[in-house]
Amino acid sequence: MPDKKSSIFLKAVKAGQGLKDLLDFDGAKARSDFPIFKQKVNGQKLVYLDTAASAQKPQAVIDSLNETLTTHYANIHRGLYQFSQITTTKFEQARHKTAGFINAASPNSIVFTRSATEAINLVAACWGAAFLKEGDEIVITQLEHHANIVPWQMIAAKTGAKIVVAPITPYGDVRADDVIACFTPKTKMLAISAMSNVLGTIIPVKDIIATAKEKNITTLVDGCQIVMHQQIDVQDLGCDFFTFSGHKIYGPNGVGVLYGREDLLNAMPPYQGGGDMIDSVSFDGTTYKQAPARFEAGTPPIAEVIALGAAIDYLQDCGLSRIAAYEKKIFTYAEEQLQAIPGLRLYGKAVQRASILAFTIDNCPPSDIGMILDQKGICVRVGHHCAMPLMECLSVKALVRAS
Ligand code: ALA
Repeated sequence: MPDKKSSIFLKAVKAGQGLKDLLDFDGAKARSDFPIFKQKVNGQKLVYLDTAASAQKPQAVIDSLNETLTTHYANIHRGLYQFSQITTTKFEQARHKTAGFINAASPNSIVFTRSATEAINLVAACWGAAFLKEGDEIVITQLEHHANIVPWQMIAAKTGAKIVVAPITPYGDVRADDVIACFTPKTKMLAISAMSNVLGTIIPVKDIIATAKEKNITTLVDGCQIVMHQQIDVQDLGCDFFTFSGHKIYGPNGVGVLYGREDLLNAMPPYQGGGDMIDSVSFDGTTYKQAPARFEAGTPPIAEVIALGAAIDYLQDCGLSRIAAYEKKIFTYAEEQLQAIPGLRLYGKAVQRASILAFTIDNCPPSDIGMILDQKGICVRVGHHCAMPLMECLSVKALVRAS
């Protein structure tokens, strides 16, 4: 990075003092809930702006993991001894909490997976195997994360189905009409993100799903980014599938959530075979349990699922709408400050956006910006953000993202 640019940029970072006050004024309590913020990075206060990639963990989540592992850890659904019973009960309570968190009609609609990526792969593979045939169409959008592109490409290659990509506007919006215009009598699946992980665009998925339903199109919403910014009600949305990750909502890694309409889950073949997903096994044939067990072969991430329940409790105690209002203040402040930096270009000006700012600075490679910010104790993500088709559409190779 040239010196002049570098000093302009660092001045702007220092001018961010106001942001610190804002954080300290409204966020001090929340900040103190996260032990990682007790440490300094390069002698600087840690500023973590990469929650869209993975959120830090509050003490309540760490305590939950610790409690399971130190006081009653055992495998679930298998043991008659009390540790197994306690752990099974807590695991299933986490399923109830997760169902309540997104207002699923039944806990049987909640399948725990390894990640949101696995959840989308599961739907593409299992729903696709049951319902897709040659010539069918799967509609996605230009701004999807790779996790909502590649699984569909894989099942399309197997079945002969075709991917149809709905465009974005120059402002990074996804207009409902543009997606609906992609629907044809051959469209069988709409797989769409509710919020861009790069531009922060909030997509009007409810309107799009309403039309998809009228046309008998099955719908999957990638909720990884939206789920911590808005109260989600899957029944109100009307989607058939909804996915999100535990680690982005302050829970542990290794847990993803797949919500599926119960009848649809039970009409799909299993994803993996193994223990806990069968009714009976013999060499003459095997029968499978109903959802969710049908899709949860093998020992799941037990302590992690229970701790996801703790993360949901934590978020609900904080209040999603209070978090959203606080984020909005920080977002507006950050956007104003960034716009004042000469040569800085913000990407995405969608009408509805939340909590993600992606930018470049003229003549400053994004990787240099990331490294300079790291020296100041500020964590941002730099790169293609697992959205190479979107980068191509924006004519950039990499962006800096603060989330
Ligand atoms: N999907 C995550 C991100 O946007 C990893 O950074």
